[in-house]
Amino acid sequence: MGSSVNGGGDVMVGRVEPCRIVELPEIVDPRGSLCVVESGKEIDFDVKRAYYMFGMPPETRRGGHGHRRLRQLIIAVHGSFKVDVDDGFNRRTFVLDHPRLGLYMTPMVWRDMVDFAPGTVGLWLVSEPYDETDYYRDYDEFLRDARSMA
Ligand code: TYD
Repeated sequence: MGSSVNGGGDVMVGRVEPCRIVELPEIVDPRGSLCVVESGKEIDFDVKRAYYMFGMPPETRRGGHGHRRLRQLIIAVHGSFKVDVDDGFNRRTFVLDHPRLGLYMTPMVWRDMVDFAPGTVGLWLVSEPYDETDYYRDYDEFLRDARSMA
């Protein structure tokens, strides 16, 4: 974990297990860099779905939800953005500003994505098919459940 890339000090966020920055293996040669994410190595889940986002205006706030079961790895494959993470007790801001970095996100954390640099492309590798019933869209409901599980 690179402390230089994270704001918010060493606060642990994630009651199931902490969210954390994962430094991905980078294979560098004169042709450029290649980074790898492999189930069972950098992540502890099988990737059931991938999606990516681009064209975010810098002032956009995305996310605004939590997940009941889903795990994910978020990568800024180009550009940068911040992820505000909240487990109902602690909050922390992670900075994704290099394609070698992934943010591993555990279940039962609320997240907001902010401060998108122009041209940013974000990639999400996730553990579950799309299922709206896995989402918390209401912060108060999330907070009530997150705190009752502690
Ligand atoms: P949304 O959850 O609002 O994205 P964000 O995480 O940035 O807040 O998703 C935007 C729209 O895309 C919403 O209508 C749901 C839809 N969507 C899918 O259809 N499939 C998916 O895998 C995802 C992640 C979203």
